[in-house]
Amino acid sequence: MSPYPALFSPLELNGLSLANRITMAPLFLGYAGSDGLVNPRLLEHYQAMGASGAAMVIVENASIDPRGQGSPFTMRIDEDRFVQGLARLAKAIQEGGAMAGLQINHAGRFAHGEGVPLAPSAVPLGKMVPEALTLEQIAGIVEAFAQAARRVRQAGFDLVELHGGTGYLLAQFLSPRTNRRDDEYGGSLENRLRFPLEVIAAVRQAVGPDYPVGYRFLADEWLPDGLQLAEAVQAAPRLAEAGLAYLSVMGGTYESFFLPERQEQEKQPGYMLSLAAAVKEAVSVPVISAGRMQDPALAEAAIKEGKADLVGLARVLLADPLWPSKAKEGRAEEIVPCEPTCNLCFSRVAKGQPIFCSQWPKEKREHFATRD
Ligand SMILES: Cc1cc2nc3c(=O)[nH]c(=O)nc-3n(C[C@H](O)[C@H](O)[C@H](O)COP(=O)(O)O)c2cc1C
Repeated sequence: MSPYPALFSPLELNGLSLANRITMAPLFLGYAGSDGLVNPRLLEHYQAMGASGAAMVIVENASIDPRGQGSPFTMRIDEDRFVQGLARLAKAIQEGGAMAGLQINHAGRFAHGEGVPLAPSAVPLGKMVPEALTLEQIAGIVEAFAQAARRVRQAGFDLVELHGGTGYLLAQFLSPRTNRRDDEYGGSLENRLRFPLEVIAAVRQAVGPDYPVGYRFLADEWLPDGLQLAEAVQAAPRLAEAGLAYLSVMGGTYESFFLPERQEQEKQPGYMLSLAAAVKEAVSVPVISAGRMQDPALAEAAIKEGKADLVGLARVLLADPLWPSKAKEGRAEEIVPCEPTCNLCFSRVAKGQPIFCSQWPKEKREHFATRD
């Protein structure tokens, strides 16, 4: 028996039978070319993630709209022609034994796509002033989410995840900092919830009642005038009850990640676990917690103590894709750790470069350092 019985216990997730409580949390790699298509390097990486022993792998954010693309190297899912490549990606993951999910996103004011970024309101980001969305544009984006979710299902993924984290568009609507609208989409929490709830409803309609829809949930922007946990725990059950399979909790946006106190906090084991635990108390759907769940004993305790139902490993699994099997076999001391002071992956993303991990052997680093 594994020394971590709770971590390796099964879970039924909206009809998906997960063999254990380990999920790969989405991690943008920058491996896609500027065509937004799935390529051999993406297939190779995700095949390894699917075979890692994690019960569920959520693929990094794919863009539902060229104007909402997170980076020029983000995978695209805004047209049917992207389905074929994505189907290969789903299959590569499933062949290794994991359930495959794809995260879909509109980056809003953080977009690096075509034209001036769109946002709920024209709240500046440095010198850039995004364009406030019209009601017609909002309706168009809701529909683009629905069409993208339909393509996720068509590609053979087991589930779709909506990216409501990292301060992207879904989170921008919920945030009192970035949503200053005075129409039915802004102001009260009820109004700020309108856009995410419309997206969930349209997605549910597009994929059918039985298909699992997960949600990356920003529970605290970690900014004085941003969305804070007290309000987030009121929003979470509203979203969950609209038909979600789970909430995958995170904190912070590009405007708070680099604050000195957050950089310090980010080095701590389980640094987002308290957010997940607070959300879990407010909802009845399963909750995922990511954030330096490096030690399997920490992951085990989080599940056993009811702070989270599943753990999400992003950089942790990137550093050592054998984390789940080493944990299962009681070889935790052999796990190659993600170094808290490193953050090479993040800095490469920031420079528009494909990522690799400083812990990888030289050959693997060189292989993934350049784009196809
Ligand atoms: C380079 C990088 C890219 C990321 N890309 C995504 C993403 O596409 N979608 C998402 O929801 N979270 C993304 N995240 C956040 C991770 O899923 C995760 O919440 C965070 O890194 C903490 O977990 P970890 O300590 O295991 O890395 C990213 C994080 C990093 C460092």
